[in-house]
Amino acid sequence: MRIITTIEEARAQPQAKCRVLVPTMGALHEAHGQMVHVARKHAGDDGEVALSIFVNPLQFEPGSDYERYPRLEKMDEEFCRKAGVDLLFRPSVADMYADDRSVFVEESFLSNTLEGESRPGHFRGVCTVVAKLFNILSADAALFGEKDFQQLMIVRRMVRDLNFKTTIIAVPTVREEDGLAFSSRNQYLNNEERNQATVLHKALLAAADAGNKSEIEIVQIVRRVINEAPLARIDYVELVDAETLKPIERVRPNSLLAVAVFFGKTRLIDNFRLA
Ligand code: PAF
Repeated sequence: MRIITTIEEARAQPQAKCRVLVPTMGALHEAHGQMVHVARKHAGDDGEVALSIFVNPLQFEPGSDYERYPRLEKMDEEFCRKAGVDLLFRPSVADMYADDRSVFVEESFLSNTLEGESRPGHFRGVCTVVAKLFNILSADAALFGEKDFQQLMIVRRMVRDLNFKTTIIAVPTVREEDGLAFSSRNQYLNNEERNQATVLHKALLAAADAGNKSEIEIVQIVRRVINEAPLARIDYVELVDAETLKPIERVRPNSLLAVAVFFGKTRLIDNFRLA
């Protein structure tokens, strides 16, 4: 595995026939392993799998967890080696962002709801860094997890509207045995919070079982299940159209139920396709 830490080195890499990128912020876990696995298949025998680790300051809104976000350099390196990554790109903030930077990438339709509403500026930061990574690594394809469904949709839009050559591949949410979606932020949870966080998936399954209900009824069901966990503090529970991410009044084909819930200081998100 080649490890590179500067944009200059990235530019000097021989171009693979097909370079498939797994963009991450590190603290790698099973869901990332699954992404590398899918990337490997997509890259084929002549292609290569690149994985980037960069905790992107631009996508952390003020007061969020940028400083305490887990940075596990050695463990992540080992993880990548074992998973079969060919190229690990781990740039510094100074290399990625000039102090007087003045160009950003902003999606302006899908970014206003859900995470965009709770985390102003978040998707501008995501789009900017993802566009940079696609350019720097000349990615032919890139993988994004469906747990961050809104991010996936926004990156697709960016690729479409700005004509990136990068093909976006969605990877279904990978869950622990008890249903909790893998996330680097799960590491913040203490035992009690971790146990109670299983209500997220339970609530989404309860909604899926409920059938074609109205938005009011579905949200009520989800809130009731989540509130069974005394440590849970709901940020949002929303029923939206999975294409536009705008609120809808009733479950119908292509509905998405999205939730964001705090356990202590840790904010977790999850979602489920209904109908
Ligand atoms: O999903 C993430 O880990 C990040 O938002 C990403 C796509 C690596 C951009 O920093």
